[in-house]
Order: sequence, then C-alpha cells, then structure tokens
Amino acid sequence: MSWRRQSILSANQFSLGDLNEILSLSVKLENDLKRSRNLKLLDDYVLATMFFEPSTRTRLSFEAAMHRLGGRVISTVGVQFSSLAKGETLFDTLKMLESYSDICAIRHSVEGASSLAARSIKIPVINAGDGAGEHPTQGLLDLYTIHRRGYLEKPHLTVAFVGDIKYGRTIHSLVQLLSHFKVNLVFISPKELALPEKYRELLNSAGVNYSETEDIAALREAHVGYITRIQEERFIDHREYEKFKDAYVVDTDLVGQCRKDLIVMHPLPRLSEVSTDLDSHPSAVYFEQANNGLYVRMALILGLLDISYP
Ligand code: CP
Repeated sequence: MSWRRQSILSANQFSLGDLNEILSLSVKLENDLKRSRNLKLLDDYVLATMFFEPSTRTRLSFEAAMHRLGGRVISTVGVQFSSLAKGETLFDTLKMLESYSDICAIRHSVEGASSLAARSIKIPVINAGDGAGEHPTQGLLDLYTIHRRGYLEKPHLTVAFVGDIKYGRTIHSLVQLLSHFKVNLVFISPKELALPEKYRELLNSAGVNYSETEDIAALREAHVGYITRIQEERFIDHREYEKFKDAYVVDTDLVGQCRKDLIVMHPLPRLSEVSTDLDSHPSAVYFEQANNGLYVRMALILGLLDISYP
C-alpha cells in the first residue's frame, strides 16, 4: 500500500520505494520554493495542528508548510487551551478534527495517541511525536538531511546515535528508516538509556549491523553523529535525570578527533550536549536539518491529501 492517502503513525510503515518517492518530492519542493513563496496548491484545504506537548520546529514547520502550499491552518497549543482542560476525553476532542480540517498533526505525551486518533477519525493523521514512542516525520527529515548531504550513498555509512536512546523518539523513527539502507549503526548511551529491545529485534531481523557502547570515543568512526538531549520530561525519578543530563558533550575539541567528513545532527532542542562553539563549524548541520523539515512536511501534506505535483 502506498504511503499516500494514509495516516503517518510510525516509521515502520514506509517501504524503500516510499522513502525514495518522499525524498525526490521533497527535493523538488525545496527547489521550487526558491522560485515561488506560495505554490498555491491547497486553497481549499485546512490543516489542524493539535499539540498537547511543547514544540517549536514541528508545529511551526507543519504550519509554514501548509501556508507555503497555499492552505490554511487551525491550531490548539497546550492542554490548558483546549476543552481537555474541562475534562473532555481525548477521543471527543480528536473527533472534532474531521469536521473542521482535512488533515491533522498531533503531538501528545501518551504513546499511541495518534493511533487512537487515526482509528477515530476519517482524515489523515500525522504523529508529530507521541511520548517516548516515535516521531516519524522527524525521522523523514533526518533521512532527507543525510540524503541531501550525499551520505546515503557513502560505502559503509556509519551513523552514531549519542545520548538518550531509550526515550529519544526521533531515534526510534530514524533507525527504522535507516534499516532500508546499507548502514552500520552505533548507539552511544549510558546503559540505563540504551536502545529498547523492540528496536534491537527490528534491526536484527533487517540484518543491520549495530553495536552499543557507553564510550563517546566511538563517535570517531562515524560519518554521521546524531546527538540527542537527555529527555528530562520522560523520567519518573528526577534524580535519574540529574545523573545522566551531562553524560556527553560534543564540542569542537571532540569533533576535531573525529573523521574529517563527520556531520553532526541533532533534532533540537539542544541543551548542553552540543556545545554552541560547534555552531559555525562545517560539521554542524542541525540548523540545516531543522530547515529541511519544511520541505519534507510539504511533501507529506501533498501525499496524504493525494495532490499530484508535477
Ligand atoms: N525536533 C522537534 O521535534 O522539535 P520541537 O520539539 O521543537 O518540535
């Protein structure tokens, strides 16, 4: 089944063919957007963004994507500004979306909230982050960034994930997407924040080479370093967060010990795990990565609404 006209709930729903189609469409939109600020394709369409957890990039890039396509946006930000605050159920809240919009993007702290929405309403639902579960559209823009840098074609491409691999939902999505390509994966984390078993099983069944370590020195072998924040909001015991919050810092000194062609990615927001002294370094691609979210999300909106684009 094509990715078009579907909801986007997990990175596991995409075939290699789907990924190639999304990457190509995103490149085309990136190029076309240099010529026209409004592609005027979605005049009669409405996107609803329902964000019950904080966001800067995901919500704003989805909304900018819809505006650049000529569509309209309605939005709720935070539980306190929806009728959930008055005790309405999530089901009743989500049920409203199919009357008011043609497509919706939902972020919620509960894993599976987007799947509940997709089962409840008749319009395409986009999982914009569900707790410590997944963030598939971030995974797609991460893949796009690696592709745009020409790294998907690198022989023996090694991608190192650093930080909170247990709770990092962007990692959970990106590893599933990368499993379609010839890659070696290295997971660098405190052992308490290691890769959840279900993703180990997935990588094993896909035949992907991977290793796990606590030692940041493993970053030296990588072409791509994907750094993540320790996800404070997922810890039940705050003392555990305090123990791990400064586990790794990637700075110009460390990058200087790594491969010359290393690119440093981060889904953002970052805290201290990527030093600001790296921002002007040629290895740093995290702001470019965030920019790429616009093109990829434009492509996804067009696909889910089944709008053909020449
Ligand atoms: N990467 C990401 O999801 O960023 P926001 O939390 O700002 O949306």
